[in-house]
Amino acid sequence: MENMENVHVLDHPLLQHKLCILRDEKTGVKDFREVVSEIATLMCYEATRDLPLENVTIKTPVATGTFKALTGKKLAIVPVLRAGLGMVDGILTLIPSAKVGHIGLYRDPETHEPVEYYCKMPADIAERDVIILDPMLATGGSATAAIELLKKKYGVKHIKLMNIIAAPEGIQRVHGDHPDVEIYVAAVDEKLNENAYIVPGLGDAGDRIFGTK
Ligand code: PRP
Ligand code: URA
Repeated sequence: MENMENVHVLDHPLLQHKLCILRDEKTGVKDFREVVSEIATLMCYEATRDLPLENVTIKTPVATGTFKALTGKKLAIVPVLRAGLGMVDGILTLIPSAKVGHIGLYRDPETHEPVEYYCKMPADIAERDVIILDPMLATGGSATAAIELLKKKYGVKHIKLMNIIAAPEGIQRVHGDHPDVEIYVAAVDEKLNENAYIVPGLGDAGDRIFGTK
């Protein structure tokens, strides 16, 4: 995959190691869930690297100085149900005051097209910078639907997309349709199979987080 502006592949050794745990078919629900959350925290650290800072004056026990602190820019995270829910706590560990919206989408098993079944956003979502959370970016249909909903229906202007594993097809689709959206992934895998699952991937993220298979 060629280098694309706004696509960030976060290949920190801790992320690569934790991804091996997720990929392993022997990893059970408890560990899978914990590691998804840990990965979300590590990815959040990188995805918030550009948060704006302002000067603040602080009196330490020794002297008064001018330092940098967050401006308090308004953020929201939006997990795509179900699997995105597994990333929420890991993000809130670092940004505890972020508001949380929810988008329910599932892929039609035949067409692989996303079907929306639920949506609830914070009232002031249009004024917030949004990070969409979903462990898997496969065809890109779900991510594109989530982005379009946030832009068109809710007027959100600044969107980041955070996925743990992506297929090249999904990145191309989202980047092609929405080049303004910054995409953060921990791995770009080889391809999609005939069922639009990521190869080698980790299987069905929702089923592995919630133990539904
Ligand atoms: C998975 C995943 C993404 C979507 C990715 O959800 O969590 O939302 O598939 O595929 P795409 O890029 O081809 O759209 P799924 O539809 O299996 O729903 P679930 O989380 O409820 O299991
Ligand atoms: N959704 C998943 O959970 N896994 C995939 O590989 C593709 C879509």
